[in-house]
Amino acid sequence: MPQSNDSILQAINLSKSFGGLKAVHQASIDVKNHSITGLIGPNGAGKSTLFNLLSNFLTADEGQVLFEGNPVQNLPPHQIARLGFLRTFQVARVLSRLTVLENMLLGTQNQIGEHLFSVLLQPKKIRKQERESKEKAMNILESVGLAEKAYDYAGALSGGQRKLLEMARTLMTNPKLILLDEPAAGVNPTLINQICEHILSWNQQGISFLIIEHNMDVIMSLCSHVWVLAEGTNLADGTPEEIQNNEQVLSAYLGE
Ligand SMILES: Nc1ncnc2c1ncn2[C@@H]1O[C@H](COP(=O)(O)OP(=O)(O)O)[C@@H](O)[C@H]1O
Ligand SMILES: [Mg+2]
Repeated sequence: MPQSNDSILQAINLSKSFGGLKAVHQASIDVKNHSITGLIGPNGAGKSTLFNLLSNFLTADEGQVLFEGNPVQNLPPHQIARLGFLRTFQVARVLSRLTVLENMLLGTQNQIGEHLFSVLLQPKKIRKQERESKEKAMNILESVGLAEKAYDYAGALSGGQRKLLEMARTLMTNPKLILLDEPAAGVNPTLINQICEHILSWNQQGISFLIIEHNMDVIMSLCSHVWVLAEGTNLADGTPEEIQNNEQVLSAYLGE
């Protein structure tokens, strides 16, 4: 299998069945380094399942996933995250009974404080690291406009703000690639615009994105390349303009 160095993520012939249903069938995808890449398709096309396979929240029946050229499908999701490969969920997974700041700090893994050995021998170092994590979290919250909500329960946030918090949390782990599952769904237009601006600015800082989204304005304004999934398998890929004018893609959506 030839591997191009300019891809941050390559998935080759991924399949996943649920009982008799082939939710994803020999689907392949390629995300170029530093790109914002789109993943679209009708409801039930298998997009979220593909995300779960890419990040190993679900084990693939077959196929291969390469992150920066290295196979990752045998690593648990938290180890994949430590490599700089993060994802969000279609329904944001934030903990309602924790504060916004506490939710951010959940993203700081692999701290020395996790190890009893360090707790006993290096308390100062741990306090310093905790202080730095908190400072980093507050800076990120500031940059996305959630700083004044830092001590509110995450459960008190709007649906859109919860999505924003989930995205902000991925930044705690020094991401190289972030998969976003419908970042604009159920979000008001003003916040959608803000989210798009954040994505562009994070991308300019070097982070690559793969984005599932039904809002075509979002896809058109952000993505340089778009992959289309239908009935669990590849239907087309190309520039947003090519995809918009692709007859097969149009008819796949008409069937919805
Ligand atoms: N955990 C699951 N168990 C059984 N069927 C599932 C499961 N997850 C998804 N599916 C089915 O797989 C298909 C693809 O779903 P999904 O990946 O959520 O599509 P999309 O995100 O493109 O709307 C659908 O028919 C869905 O009902
Ligand atoms: Mg989905």
